[in-house]
Amino acid sequence: MSMEREDNLDLHPITALVTGATSGIGRAVAKRLAADGMSVVVTGRNARRGAETVNEITAAGGRARFVETDLEDSAGIDRLAAEVGEVDVLVNNAGQAIWAPTEEMKVSDYDAMFASNVRAAFFLVAAFAPTMAAKGSGSVINIGSMAGSLGLAAGAAYGATKAALASLTRGWTAEYSARGVRFNTVAPGPVYTRPEARDLFDALAETTALRRAAQPAEVAEAVAFLVSPKAGYITGATVAVDGGRTAI
Ligand SMILES: NC(=O)c1ccc[n+]([C@@H]2O[C@H](COP(=O)([O-])OP(=O)(O)OC[C@H]3O[C@@H](n4cnc5c(N)ncnc54)[C@H](OP(=O)(O)O)[C@@H]3O)[C@@H](O)[C@H]2O)c1
Repeated sequence: MSMEREDNLDLHPITALVTGATSGIGRAVAKRLAADGMSVVVTGRNARRGAETVNEITAAGGRARFVETDLEDSAGIDRLAAEVGEVDVLVNNAGQAIWAPTEEMKVSDYDAMFASNVRAAFFLVAAFAPTMAAKGSGSVINIGSMAGSLGLAAGAAYGATKAALASLTRGWTAEYSARGVRFNTVAPGPVYTRPEARDLFDALAETTALRRAAQPAEVAEAVAFLVSPKAGYITGATVAVDGGRTAI
């Protein structure tokens, strides 16, 4: 983003769209970007939790609004793009992690994961990147996973969605960098989000170099840095926020 934009933030706030901001990592990212002064569009399917995210942001003095969207529905993606208009920052965070032994994976679960984790990100970039490119600035973060580069039992399909996202990041870097839009993947390790998955996160935590899982805010810090002008020379990268898991 240009200095001119930064000098006029009150008149023209940087707008960020964060998918899956109704809980977990997405909510932490939405709050963190709002704390940096961005006007945040919070999306997800759950309106009650969406309102909670918006209320937390506005109570802290930030700007946010909720747009309900089911990303498995491509018409819903079109409606979201039409309602939101242009954005400066897009965080493709929404995702489902359905773990199952390969022979037990349901076709419907496989399709739902690829629709929400991969197809939605693709068509959101198709909707928003051209305007960023026309303006000559913008930043897109895809939330991947260490599962995108590690083989994890019962995680083959989920890992494939995250490997696909990292691949999309590289493809879009080739396609849009000359027009000033940066793309990066943030690949978390275990992060304490869904309380029902606490045992899974604890077990994965033991496999990391730091021997612990992360808090969502630790992932949000990486996102905030990467979308900021401080990271102006970082594009096409996969940034691991995984306690060293993929390093060992
Ligand atoms: N937690 C971890 O250990 C971990 C590690 C690596 C990567 N990740 C990735 O981080 C991202 C966030 O996960 P999380 O752990 O924060 O999980 P979470 O608390 O379950 O949040 C997932 C978010 O995605 C949204 N979402 C899912 N399917 C959607 C759909 N079809 N349409 C619209 N929104 C949808 C959910 O919105 P609604 O509930 O409102 O529908 C929710 O806000 C995911 O991409 C996940 O794969 C998580």
